Amino acid sequence: MFAPIGIFDSGYGGLTVMKEILQKLPQYDYIYLGDNARAPYGNRSFDTVYHYTLQCVQWFFDQGCPLVILACNTASAKALRTIQQNDLPKIAPDNRVLGVIRPTSEIIGSYTDTKKIGILATRGTVQSESYRLEIDKFFPDIEVHQEACPMWVPLVENNEHQQPGADYFIEKHLQNILQHQKDIDLLLLACTHYPLLMNKIKQFIPDNIKVLSQGLIVAESLADYLQRHPEMEQRCSKSGTRAFFTTDDPNDFNHQASIFFGEPLQSNHVAL
Ligand code: DGL
Repeated sequence: MFAPIGIFDSGYGGLTVMKEILQKLPQYDYIYLGDNARAPYGNRSFDTVYHYTLQCVQWFFDQGCPLVILACNTASAKALRTIQQNDLPKIAPDNRVLGVIRPTSEIIGSYTDTKKIGILATRGTVQSESYRLEIDKFFPDIEVHQEACPMWVPLVENNEHQQPGADYFIEKHLQNILQHQKDIDLLLLACTHYPLLMNKIKQFIPDNIKVLSQGLIVAESLADYLQRHPEMEQRCSKSGTRAFFTTDDPNDFNHQASIFFGEPLQSNHVAL
């Protein structure tokens, strides 16, 4: 039976996570859905992000996915818990939906010496306080500073992030967060779009500050999850196929997505 692992993002960002998952766990079937027609999610209300995300999760279940990864911090922050606690028991009690905030929070302590870290994210993720709450569970001694960078996703989605105009917005938010606390030694890219800004970000910060993206962390955490849950592992089909879907125009998606994914891909349209 075809039972792929679903990978979801509001747009293209989740492809940076999917790339790492495919490296680590190539044997499974995967389907990716980008809700590009309604992206970005970052400035939208809790209710809106929850409803959009739930609709997409239901679509994955309809395709036969037993397991869905929300490769989107905004959806993980604003929708995951409600879906896990309220919706899953009703719509698909044996299926699972996992996010990116918990696996990142679980290991973040091993990347900081000063115990002062900066979280760069969408406004929605910052306002949810999800990182502060999760990190505090595992590392109560870590001081968390947050900065919302609302222009960064639109810059990336519009492929303007390499242009000189992007520098203003990148530098501005890095300066904001670093001036709050001079001892920050780790910046977490807590949005799956931001790894595409990695080179630019490094231009504007001192060398001693590490910049962490989530792809590898999420891939390792998924591998660990499948090992600890053999009942789920056995349900995931293993023919090594990949399929890509977008709620917007597939031609636009193919072009832009290849930049995130690092190789050409063909997508299909989904009407939700
Ligand atoms: N990639 C999403 C995240 O990780 C955010 C993009 C958006 O604002 O839609 O938060």
